[in-house]
Amino acid sequence: MREEVNAALVDLIEEEVQRGAGEVALEAGRVLNAGGKRLRPLLFLLAYRLAGGTKQDDVMPLALAFELIHTATLVHDDINDEAQQRRGIPTIHAKAGQAKAVIAGDWLFVHGFGLGGRYSEQIVTVIARCCADIAVSEFHQLDHVLNLATSPEDYLSIVKGKTAGPFAAGCYAAGLVAGLPEPQAKALETFGMELGIAFQLVDDLLDLRGDERMGKPRGADVYEGKMTLPLIHALTLSHGHHRERLSEVIEHFSDDDFDELMALLNRSNSLEYAEILVRTHLERAQAALDTFPDGEAKSMMRHITDFVKTRHA
Ligand code: IPE
Ligand code: IPE
Ligand code: MG
Ligand code: MG
Repeated sequence: MREEVNAALVDLIEEEVQRGAGEVALEAGRVLNAGGKRLRPLLFLLAYRLAGGTKQDDVMPLALAFELIHTATLVHDDINDEAQQRRGIPTIHAKAGQAKAVIAGDWLFVHGFGLGGRYSEQIVTVIARCCADIAVSEFHQLDHVLNLATSPEDYLSIVKGKTAGPFAAGCYAAGLVAGLPEPQAKALETFGMELGIAFQLVDDLLDLRGDERMGKPRGADVYEGKMTLPLIHALTLSHGHHRERLSEVIEHFSDDDFDELMALLNRSNSLEYAEILVRTHLERAQAALDTFPDGEAKSMMRHITDFVKTRHA
């Protein structure tokens, strides 16, 4: 299924190049087809099958729409984060400059909406709302940069908006495309939301674990001043000298501080805390999945749920 998604995305860029789109299509296509995991489109194709859908062509534009929109957010996120690498290759702004990267991100968004816009008004509204919520949450995240009073509730709300919402919207919409009644489509939405929360928690843990397979330097989130859950947890539980050091390290972070930061987080078991929450949200995702009949789609979705727990990139 991943090969089918990849081939369709390669074709899409080729067609645009043929139409004369030139550098914007080539730059957008370079990042689009640089080897993302394709987790969102795969989940939505599977959600459609789980919902009883049998004509994959009916749901493919939806799956591709979400991958285009996701890649657009990455292009823009990388500008804001000044990230040099994405999916193992240079970011668009690093290669072609910020102005072109903004436009290339817009280009990806527009093509995503072109595909998503083929569906019913209800589905188009779901897609539009989840995209608007990404922007809302990205604003909140910026407003919380280096805000040491950020609460777990603030964090969860940001994660729901920027990451889990699109997982939820895509699963829900895939259910609707398959003709699922509202309550069952809502169960798919819950599955996507819970899986998406776990996915972002893991992403934030991987940033702190510093695995080179992530394709970016360890602690990049801390460097950006992003208040992820392990930091919020440790700030809440630490006192006196340790709390003071933790604040200083977060506020003036450089890679030299990495070991000290990890020691401070480990004192309060803050990574373990985030890991427990990962398991909780994945259990909830699984419970939503359990309301559907057994079969190949369900077992592959279960496999993805397990993958989220153990992934390294
Ligand atoms: C990265 O998403 C951004 C987050 C929401 C954490 P992915 O980890 O799915 O990125 P790709 O698509 O595989 O590159
Ligand atoms: C992804 O979040 C951004 C969006 C969901 C828009 P992150 O900032 O955590 O993604 P990475 O870590 O840069 O891939
Ligand atoms: Mg980022
Ligand atoms: Mg991240």
